[in-house]
Amino acid sequence: MRDFYQKPCFNYKFIMFLFKKVADLQQYLNTKRKEGNVIGFVPTMGALHEGHLSLIRASKSQSDLTVCSIFVNPTQFNDTSDLEKYPRTIGADIDLLSSADNDILFWPLDTEVYPPGLDTNLELDFGDLATVMEGYFRPGHFDGMAQVVWRLLQIVEPHKLFMGQKDFQQLTIVRNMLQQMQSEIELIMCPIVREDNGLAMSSRNRRLSVEDRSQSTIIYQVLNEAKEKMKQEKPGEISQWAMKKISDCGYKPEYFKIVNGITLQAIDQFKDADLVVACTAVWVGEVRLIDNMILKNQK
Ligand code: PAJ
Repeated sequence: MRDFYQKPCFNYKFIMFLFKKVADLQQYLNTKRKEGNVIGFVPTMGALHEGHLSLIRASKSQSDLTVCSIFVNPTQFNDTSDLEKYPRTIGADIDLLSSADNDILFWPLDTEVYPPGLDTNLELDFGDLATVMEGYFRPGHFDGMAQVVWRLLQIVEPHKLFMGQKDFQQLTIVRNMLQQMQSEIELIMCPIVREDNGLAMSSRNRRLSVEDRSQSTIIYQVLNEAKEKMKQEKPGEISQWAMKKISDCGYKPEYFKIVNGITLQAIDQFKDADLVVACTAVWVGEVRLIDNMILKNQK
């Protein structure tokens, strides 16, 4: 495959550019930026689905040029078998991105993102944002995630960054990173896209058995019931109830936390925060799923 080519997708009206080299991408984007184009950026790890495409569409509607990256970032996997098992489906991804009229795909090798000799470590401290929930169960994950997102932002230099509410803690940490780096990039949160049965779309869902795929909708049901319960019960009580309900269905919840959506700390009472989010991680067989729901938003 050449490093830079126009994919001749004659089925589609649109021609998408594919770049594999940082230098080629930057040269192209510099010209577009000088012409006054607003650049929107959607970082992904591939194995794309409708959730990712919703970000592409959001970017298309709010930018002149949309760049999507596909890069399975090794530094954010604390479990090597998870990294190995991560689905890689570049052919299908290219078709999906073309069908969504994505403008540019950046699909680099590890050595482009992390060239030998370049120090890409970020010396940022995310404090308690990164030690709770996913940070507790996946040590080092957010350092690797922030490292690659910042590196990709340095490469693409977008005006706008589109990320999903699906990974609420990730998005909160990226927001904090942008603040610490005094970046002017606008971060836009896109809502969670779900299957018809309520299961949050995820690249990991394709590893679920047919049965688990339909039964793991319990996670969404519990999140909805938690929202109902907030009228009568305290956050701690609801969390306990949710953990039990998910366990009773034969799945293994790692956590079900009701948190302040800004600090990510568990709250005692719903009146303690204007933005309240229920966040959970559940093992469904060998697959770890995360989901969340905004219970209250009074911003
Ligand atoms: P990935 O899991 O591929 O997700 C890429 C983006 O798609 C993230 O912003 C994520 O929140 C969003 N997304 C995933 N599923 C979604 C859904 N069902 N609805 C809406 N948005 C959804 O998150 C990562 O990759 C990586 O950590 C990355 C940021 C690319 C850094 O490596």
